[in-house]
Amino acid sequence: MLRAFKAASIGYLALSSAFYENKSFLRLFSSQHSVTLAKLQTMDSSKEPAESHETMAEAVKEKTPTGCTEKSPLTSTEPGLLPGETVVNEGKAAILFPSANEVFYNPVQEFNRDLTCAVLTEFSREQLAQRGIRILVPGEKDRVVIQLSEEKNGTVSQESAEQPEVQNLKHEEASEKEQGLRVLEALAASGLRSVRFALEVPGLKSITANDFSAKAAALIARNGQHNNVGHILQASQRDASMVMYEARGKSQRYDVIDLDPYGSPSPFLDAAVQAVSEGGLLCVTCTDMAVMAGNSSETCYSKYGSVSIKSKYCHEMALRIILHSIDLRAAAYQRYIEPLLSVSVDFYIRVFVRVKTGQATVKNSASKQALLYNCVGCGAFHLQRMGKKTSQGKQMKYSAATGPPVGPTCEHCGQKHQA
Ligand SMILES: C[S@@+](CC[C@H](N)C(=O)[O-])C[C@H]1O[C@@H](n2cnc3c(N)ncnc32)[C@H](O)[C@@H]1O
Ligand SMILES: [Zn+2]
Repeated sequence: MLRAFKAASIGYLALSSAFYENKSFLRLFSSQHSVTLAKLQTMDSSKEPAESHETMAEAVKEKTPTGCTEKSPLTSTEPGLLPGETVVNEGKAAILFPSANEVFYNPVQEFNRDLTCAVLTEFSREQLAQRGIRILVPGEKDRVVIQLSEEKNGTVSQESAEQPEVQNLKHEEASEKEQGLRVLEALAASGLRSVRFALEVPGLKSITANDFSAKAAALIARNGQHNNVGHILQASQRDASMVMYEARGKSQRYDVIDLDPYGSPSPFLDAAVQAVSEGGLLCVTCTDMAVMAGNSSETCYSKYGSVSIKSKYCHEMALRIILHSIDLRAAAYQRYIEPLLSVSVDFYIRVFVRVKTGQATVKNSASKQALLYNCVGCGAFHLQRMGKKTSQGKQMKYSAATGPPVGPTCEHCGQKHQA
C-alpha cells in the first residue's frame, strides 16, 4: 500500500495527486471533451465486482453505447462495409466491427476512452510546450482545476485561460508532427481507442495499435483507413510484452503507453515501466476488481504484491494496490512513478502515472509504503510503514521502520486486526 499516494475520494471520484506535496492539484478536462464528474460511478460495494468482457454482437444485442456523439451510434449502411459488418460511432471515430464475436468491444468503457483522450490531450500539450510547441485545443476558453490539497479537498473551480502556462497558445501543425509524441496502445482490439487518439488528441507523431490477434490487427488497419488516420496509426500484430521489451532502449521508448487488458495488467507491467520514455505517461486499466477488492486476496498478492481485504474502502484500496505494484516494478530499474490521476469507475479502475528515472528518489519508495492493520470489528485502521526515512543534515538516512502500530487487539472494540 502506498501511504503517501494521497488518493482523495471526491464524491464519486477518487483522484490521487502526485505524492509530492507541492503537486497538489491537477488541471483536467479541456472543454473539447464532454467529460463530467457526474458520469463517474463507483462500484456498488454490495455487489460482486465483475469483469465485463463483451464482443460486438453481445453489445449490440443488449446495449446501446452511451454518450455517443449526435451521430447515430450504430449504422450498417456506410459504404465500404463487408457483409455483416457494423459501424460503431464513438467520439470522433467510426469503427468497423465484424458481425461475428471476433474482436472485443466494450461500450461500457467509453468513459475510459473519453477520459484517456482528455488526459492525453493535457499531457501532450504539456510535453510539447516543453519542446517549444504550443497547442490550443479548439474551442477552449476555460480550464477546470480540481484542487486536491488537504485543505480544499474536492473543490472544483474554473480558471480562466489567463493562466500564464496556457496563455496565447497556438496550434503549430508542422513542428507538432515532427516533434509529436509516440503512443503505444499495447492491447488494442479493434483500434477504437487508437483511432480516437489520432482524431481527438493533438500533438501526436505516431500511434502503434497492437494486438496479438490476427483478426484484431487486420481490423485495426482497416479502421485506420476508414477514419483517414492511416498516416499516423500503425497496426501491429505482436505479443504486447515483446513490443515493449524491444522498445526499452532510450531512443525507442514510447511517450505514452496504454494498457487496457482483459482483467489484470500484471503480466505487462514489467515491460511497460521500461518502455515508457523519461517523464512519459503510463495508462493502466484493471478490471479484475473481485481480486483487488478483497474477494481473492491470495491471487491479489501473486499479481500485485498486496493482500486485498474486504472493506468499505475497497475501491481506494484497489487504486493503492495497483500504484504500489507499478512503483515496485519501476523501482527495479531505478525508475519511480508520479500518479497523476486515479479513478474507480463502474467495474474497473484506471490510473495515469508519469514514469521517471532517479536512484535517489527510488530510495524513498519503502518509506512511502505501508502495511495496513484493519480492525475486523469496528474498521479502525493503522499503518505500518515499510521503511523509515530521516534527515541527518543534508543527508537522508534510510532504515527499517519500527512497529507494530497496534496491540494484539483493537483498542476500541477488542477485536483482531487483519493485515
Ligand atoms: C480489453 S481488450 C482491449 C480493448 C481496447 N483497448 C479498447 O479500448 O477497445 C484486450 C485485447 O488484448 C488482446 N491481448 C491479450 N493478450 C495480449 C498479448 N499478450 N499481446 C497482445 N494483445 C493481447 C486481446 O486480443 C484483446 O483484443
Ligand atoms: Zn475495533
